[in-house]
Amino acid sequence: MVRPYQPGDEVGIAEAHRRSIHELCSKDYAPEQIADWGGARIKPERYVESITKNSEKFFVLDDSGTIGGFAGWFGEEIQGFYMHPAYAGQGWGKQLFAVAEADYWQSTTHPTCTIISTITAKPFYEKLGYKVVGPYVRTFRSGVSLDCWKMEKQRPA
Ligand SMILES: CC(C)(COP(=O)(O)OP(=O)(O)OC[C@H]1O[C@@H](n2cnc3c(N)ncnc32)[C@H](O)[C@@H]1OP(=O)(O)O)[C@@H](O)C(=O)NCCC(=O)NCCS
Repeated sequence: MVRPYQPGDEVGIAEAHRRSIHELCSKDYAPEQIADWGGARIKPERYVESITKNSEKFFVLDDSGTIGGFAGWFGEEIQGFYMHPAYAGQGWGKQLFAVAEADYWQSTTHPTCTIISTITAKPFYEKLGYKVVGPYVRTFRSGVSLDCWKMEKQRPA
């Protein structure tokens, strides 16, 4: 079931996030990038802060209490979209993303939706109609950086 975030989901969200980076993104990024990106910066309270203070909208895939993935949007961007490896590659990501994207289009008047995509997720977004705007380097406070792609989709007519 895909549903909006509920308090308490943040522990499962953090686990899905960490495992997604370590087990799915590790094919496209170096071990030192994975260690930093999927390391101590992943803390349940960070999602709570984004949702409560920054009004980020979060949706989760809930499999009888196990968080199978999550997708969030804020401003003009879908910001966090990660599947737990046990739930990836089965069509669940597409369903979860569709709910978050529909909420974005309904809740905003922005003409475009932006995504800073990992190398890993680029083919997924391309399938859903997102186009590459250009390369984008995401740099963490630690100084570690990730090569990503800035992608955009036009509001459907
Ligand atoms: C990218 C990700 C979210 C996709 O979720 P998923 O549940 O695996 O995707 P789905 O099974 O719903 O696939 C939907 C479609 O995309 C395609 N697809 C998904 N990943 C793909 C890939 N890497 N290459 C090519 N096609 C891909 C599927 O074949 C499927 O196609 P279909 O609709 O024609 O059958 C997931 O793999 C993931 O969490 N990756 C690591 C984290 C990450 O990089 N997140 C993005 C942050 S910006």
